[in-house]
Amino acid sequence: MIHLKDISFKYKKDLPYVLKNININILNKEKILIAGPNGAGKTTLSKILSGILPKIENGVLKGDYFFNNKNVNDLTCQEILKKTGILLQDFESQLVTTTVKEELIFYPLNKNISYTDALKSAQRLAENFKIENIFNRDTSELSGGEKQKVALLSLLTANPEIIILDEPFTDIDPKTREDIIDFLMQEFVDKVVLVFEQTLNYFEYFDRIIIINNGEIIFDGNKKDLFNCKKVENAGLELPFVKKYFNGVDAVDFIKNNYIFDEEKYLNLLKDTEKSNETVILIKGLFFKYQGINDCVLKNINFEIKKGDFIIVAGPNGSGKTTLMKIIAGIISNKQGEIKKSINDLKISYIYQNPDNQIFADTVFNEVSFILKTSNINTDIIKQKTEDILKLMGLFDKKDEDPFNLPKGDRQKIACASILIAEPDVIIMDEPTTGLDIPSLNSLMSIVEELNNKGKTVIIITHDMDVVSKYGNKILVMLNGEILYYGNKYGVFENDEILIKANIKRTDIMNLTYKINNKLLLNEKEFNICWRKK
Ligand SMILES: Nc1ncnc2c1ncn2[C@@H]1O[C@H](COP(=O)(O)OP(=O)(O)OP(=O)(O)O)[C@@H](O)[C@H]1O
Ligand SMILES: [Mg+2]
Repeated sequence: MIHLKDISFKYKKDLPYVLKNININILNKEKILIAGPNGAGKTTLSKILSGILPKIENGVLKGDYFFNNKNVNDLTCQEILKKTGILLQDFESQLVTTTVKEELIFYPLNKNISYTDALKSAQRLAENFKIENIFNRDTSELSGGEKQKVALLSLLTANPEIIILDEPFTDIDPKTREDIIDFLMQEFVDKVVLVFEQTLNYFEYFDRIIIINNGEIIFDGNKKDLFNCKKVENAGLELPFVKKYFNGVDAVDFIKNNYIFDEEKYLNLLKDTEKSNETVILIKGLFFKYQGINDCVLKNINFEIKKGDFIIVAGPNGSGKTTLMKIIAGIISNKQGEIKKSINDLKISYIYQNPDNQIFADTVFNEVSFILKTSNINTDIIKQKTEDILKLMGLFDKKDEDPFNLPKGDRQKIACASILIAEPDVIIMDEPTTGLDIPSLNSLMSIVEELNNKGKTVIIITHDMDVVSKYGNKILVMLNGEILYYGNKYGVFENDEILIKANIKRTDIMNLTYKINNKLLLNEKEFNICWRKK
C-alpha cells in the first residue's frame, strides 16, 4: 500500500539530511508503532507519509514514495490527504471549527453524509469516549486532553485509509489512552494505522515496530525481536520493566523462587513521607467557575502544601488539575475561597501544559535567560547560569535558534528551563514531560529533584505513570473538580476503586510486585531495595 524507497529528506538545501535512506513497505491493514527519541525524524516522516512534506511545507526530498503503486510525485497533495488522516503533534492547530459537535461532523458533512447521520455518529463517538458533557462546548475552552481527544476523534470521523498519529496520547489520561488504542485496533481493522511515539510503552498492541534514530531506521520487525536488541537502548528507548528483565518466564514464579523479600526495608519505604511541618500554601473551601459556564469546575477544595513537598497531580482529563494549579499560581482569579501563603512574596511559578503559551523570545538563549535579566543579576552570571542549564537540558547547541523552529520536545524543555533557572519557591509544572524521550526526561527531572532537595516545593501534573511511580512524596488525585485522594502513593496504587474512578493505571512493576506477595512497590528502585537475589 505504501512503499518508501531510499527516502532522504532535508528541510533546506544547505542543512543536513534529517532522514536518510528510509526504506519501508507497508501492507494493507498493518498496525505499526514507529518509535524513536526526540529529534529522530518521526514528525518529518509522518509529514512525508501524509504528503504535507514537501508538498505543503518546504523541503528537499530524495528517493521515491509509492502510494497504492502510484508515485506520489504524480499525485496532488489533496489526493494523498484524502486517503491519509494525520494527527499532528501540535493538535491544537488542527481544531478547525468552534464547537466539539461541529468538529465531529465536519469531515462527514464534507463527504456528503447527511446532517442527521453525521450528528448521530458524532453523538455515538462522544458517548463512547465519555465526552458528551463537552459536546456543545467551544473547542478553545477545553482542557488540554479534551482538545487532543477531540482532534483525534475528529480525524477518525474522516475514515481515512491510512491513519497517521504523531504522539497522539501525550495529554490523554492513561485509561483513555488504552481505550483509544483498543478502539483503533477494533474499528479500523481494515485500515493502516501508524502511531509515532517517544516510548515503547504501548508496543504490545502492535504487530510491527519500527525504530528510528538519527534519521535512520535501526529496527523493523515484530515485538519478539525487540527483546535483547541493544540498538533499542542505544536509541534511548526502554522496554517496560517486566519485559526487559523477565521476558519469556513467569516473572511471579521466577522471583518467588530466586529472590528474597526484605520485610524491614519494605516497612521503611512505607514510613511517613512528610518532608516538613511548615505549611507553604493552605487552600480552604475553594470553588471556581469559568465565565459563561454554569457548573463549578472546582468544588470545595481543601488541602495543605508543606515546604519541600514534591506533589504529583493526577486524574482524568477535564477533572480540574490545570485550573486548580493556575489558581494557586495566581494566573486565574475570581475564585471563591481562600489560598493562604506562608509569606506574602512567596514566588510561585507555573509552566504551561502547552509550552507555546509561554515562549515569546527570538532565541533559545534569550527565552531561557529572560527571567534573570529582569532581576539585578550581573550579566556574566546570567550568561553562565543560562549556559549551564542549556547544557544540562541538551539545548546548548541550539541556543541561537528560534524556539519555534525547533521540535515540540525542545520547546517543552525550553519552557521548563526558562522557569527553573530562577529557582522559584514553588514550581508548578503542568505535564512537563509530554513529548520528551527518556534521556531528556531524566535530565529535566534531575534538575527538578535538585531544586527539591534544596527545599523548593514542586508540583507536577502528569498522565505519565512512569513519572508518577518514580517521583514525588505525595499524590493528589482529582476527579470532577474535587479531591479524590491526597496522601502517599501506595494509598492510590493499592486501591482499585480509586484507580478505576480516576482513570489511573498501575505500571507493570506495580502489578508484578502486588501479585507476588500483595506488597506493592512503585518502581525499579524500590524493587531493588526490597527484593534481593538469593
Ligand atoms: N478557558 C476555559 N473556559 C471554560 N471552561 C474551561 C476552560 N478551560 C478548561 N475548562 C473546563 O474546565 C474543566 C477542567 O479543565 P482543566 O483544564 O482544569 O482540566 P485538567 O484536569 O487539567 O485536564 P487535562 O488532563 O485534559 O489537562 C474541564 O471541563 C474543561 O473543559
Ligand atoms: Mg490540564
